[in-house]
Amino acid sequence: MRGNPEWLYDEGKQIGTDYEDFSEIRAYDRRMAKIRDVGKELQEVLDLLDLAPKASVLEIGTGTGEFPIAAVERCSKVIAADVSLPMLGYAREKAKERLREEGREGDLERIEFVRGGFLTYEHSSEPLDAVVTQFVLHHLPDFWKQVALLRIAGMLKERGRLYIRDVVYSFNVADYEGFFDRYLSRMAEIGGEGTPQDILVHIRDEHSTIGWILEGMIERAGFEIERAEYRAGFIATYLCVKKS
Ligand SMILES: C[S@@+](CC[C@H](N)C(=O)[O-])C[C@H]1O[C@@H](n2cnc3c(N)ncnc32)[C@H](O)[C@@H]1O
Repeated sequence: MRGNPEWLYDEGKQIGTDYEDFSEIRAYDRRMAKIRDVGKELQEVLDLLDLAPKASVLEIGTGTGEFPIAAVERCSKVIAADVSLPMLGYAREKAKERLREEGREGDLERIEFVRGGFLTYEHSSEPLDAVVTQFVLHHLPDFWKQVALLRIAGMLKERGRLYIRDVVYSFNVADYEGFFDRYLSRMAEIGGEGTPQDILVHIRDEHSTIGWILEGMIERAGFEIERAEYRAGFIATYLCVKKS
């Protein structure tokens, strides 16, 4: 990430939760296991992407690296990018261990862990079949989200697929106070101690946007949205195809 112009948004700086902090990284999977069904989410993404055995896929913001472990079973190459070096180290070790336990050691060679993000990852090999990004786009302010989406379109093959899952607001903004209060109470019930704090930091310091704004940005970047789903006023998923 050297040699970037000085005006470029610094995507390496941590906002909200600090994913360069080892205790945070270790706690991340435990916290997610309480509020998400990560295994089910991944199977859903992979079924929707329907990757051919020869396909190559990039995940941006791989975090603790669950996606590459699942995806490499279904395609020939997975690039797992993240701006946090500690996260990448953790993800690589996890993949090594999990693949060994499952007797799939050879699959590790087909996962490439790369430091880089939406604004700095440079794709130099063949255009990609798919790009996946889950719970990461909200790290960028809206202008830079648009830049990120354009860069992703530039890395994909024609008709290549983009899958986005993120914290995106679809509740009635006129009721934002009531909505956030109810949401935080619900998360305290499901996620236990620490979760509401995490979510309030997200609301205050991170850059989640509104569904209709994000849909406009995705389309202006040259994608058709095949499927947009909104859940609980707070979570959205988009399956998009690059227009020919
Ligand atoms: C909330 S975690 C999500 C991890 C994983 N994708 C998941 O679904 O659990 C966010 C991850 O995105 C990374 N990240 C933050 N900003 C990024 C950017 N601009 N480009 C790529 N990765 C970024 C963080 O370092 C962190 O690992």
